[in-house]
Amino acid sequence: MPLKTAVLISGSGSNLQSIIDRIEQGVLNAQITLVLSNKSNAFGLERASRHGLKNKIIEHASFRSREDFDQAMIKEIRDSGAEAVILAGFMRILTPLFINSFPGRILNIHPALLPSFPGVHGQKQAADYAVKISGCSVHFVDEKMDHGPIIIQAAVPAFAQDDPKSLGSRILALEHRIYPQAIQWLAQDRLRIAGRRVEIQNSPGPLLVGKDKDSAIICPGLEKNF
Ligand code: GRF
Repeated sequence: MPLKTAVLISGSGSNLQSIIDRIEQGVLNAQITLVLSNKSNAFGLERASRHGLKNKIIEHASFRSREDFDQAMIKEIRDSGAEAVILAGFMRILTPLFINSFPGRILNIHPALLPSFPGVHGQKQAADYAVKISGCSVHFVDEKMDHGPIIIQAAVPAFAQDDPKSLGSRILALEHRIYPQAIQWLAQDRLRIAGRRVEIQNSPGPLLVGKDKDSAIICPGLEKNF
């Protein structure tokens, strides 16, 4: 049975697209029961419509409190039948009410090598700091921002001539590969959380991909077709 997921977005939805593509290719055993956006102009909503996915806007500004907003989202997600929540560029802080409603079943992707550069604009923070390596991280969501146990990371080189955009696009290309893989492990029930550690049953060893400026190291590695 495919893992029923709700994907939460606020913007372009390119990660949503990568998840849709892997599902349609028969590589990722998941079903998107709902795409939820807190922004009415999120391009990801159009992506969802193009693929015939149920989508809904819940604007945070129309709620009195974060809890009220989260409660409305919880209801929609539950009504859709989703068992897991995928944050894909969703730019709101979730309350404990939301997090405790889907224990061990909320994933996030962050465009930096956590615990470095949490919060917004991870790519810009890394470029401004002039790091030599940056990357992206998929992690379980807990009550602290960009903090929960890490499932997979990809590291990419960063160069003196990089700006947030060039570094960000190198990172984004890897986001599109590691997020569907992490969701597949969740769908296969191969992830176990032990404190900060995520154990992945039969996880592949580290993988080196690409070349020169497009090289990356992904750990754990990706399985076939990811
Ligand atoms: C990505 O960089 C993701 O890591 C971050 O927000 C961005 C969303 O991009 N959380 P998109 O909407 O998936 O294109």
